[in-house]
Amino acid sequence: MDLGLTGSVVAVTAASRGIGAAVARRFAAEGATVVAASRSAPAVEETATGQVLPVKLDLDDAEATARLVPDAVADHGRLDVLVVNTPGPRLGPFLETTDEDWTRGYDLLLRPAVQLARAGARQMAAQGGGCVVFLTSTWVRQPAPGGVLSSSFRAAIAAMAKQLACEVAPLGVRVVQVMPGATGTDRMRDITAAKSAAYGSTQDEEVAKVVRDIPLGRWASAEEIADTVVFLASPRSSFTTGASLAVDGGAIRSLP
Ligand SMILES: NC(=O)c1ccc[n+]([C@@H]2O[C@H](COP(=O)([O-])OP(=O)(O)OC[C@H]3O[C@@H](n4cnc5c(N)ncnc54)[C@H](OP(=O)(O)O)[C@@H]3O)[C@@H](O)[C@H]2O)c1
Repeated sequence: MDLGLTGSVVAVTAASRGIGAAVARRFAAEGATVVAASRSAPAVEETATGQVLPVKLDLDDAEATARLVPDAVADHGRLDVLVVNTPGPRLGPFLETTDEDWTRGYDLLLRPAVQLARAGARQMAAQGGGCVVFLTSTWVRQPAPGGVLSSSFRAAIAAMAKQLACEVAPLGVRVVQVMPGATGTDRMRDITAAKSAAYGSTQDEEVAKVVRDIPLGRWASAEEIADTVVFLASPRSSFTTGASLAVDGGAIRSLP
């Protein structure tokens, strides 16, 4: 299926590794020019069809975050897709979180999501179309131990996505939320390594605990999450907006 993304301009944040990097590469494979923002900004990647153009952006820097969309438009003329991805917050029990943890969560997850979505949706409305994708987590719908910061800020992002979708639909702009379940990235490997150190278990045992409750019996690859993001952002999903889709191997048990 031709996804109709050839020649489109895409911006992805937190995009040097893991899910964000896989999303950026998948858009480039579909013929897009992709502005891929992260603190480290690795080398430019040319594919046969498109390109990934890394730019330096620390989402903790509010002024720099506000410049991402205008800079991308100044360089490439338009913005067809914005994928709002963020680093994950610290994990730990609610009673052990500090005020500083909550401020960090706001600064790294919610504030950048608000800034980016506002700038991206304004640009898309002005040019007559586009799609904003929020990458959140299944913890929006199904809390897990240690996930209070993640689920709280992502639930706020989910509510914002729904509200925004309704407001900008008449302007031709779509808004969707993709909720990854457990995915084999650096973050997941760090989490299982930290747990094995804390509990005196092996990392394999901690991985087994993560996948135990996933009906498909494994975690996702970052590319599997990326495939869903690219499809939802593409013109092939032109009647989908305000939707939240879990890509979780069946882990969420509740009905939609
Ligand atoms: N992996 C999972 O199982 C899973 C499941 C559900 C949700 N998620 C969420 O999905 C998001 C991505 O997770 P991942 O597993 O792909 O993580 P990852 O492999 O650790 O990658 C994190 C990305 O965030 C970037 N980053 C970190 N701090 C940043 C900052 N201050 N400003 C800009 N970029 C920053 C990193 O690049 P630099 O270091 O170059 O800045 C990197 O590209 C996280 O919010 C995570 O909680 C992950």
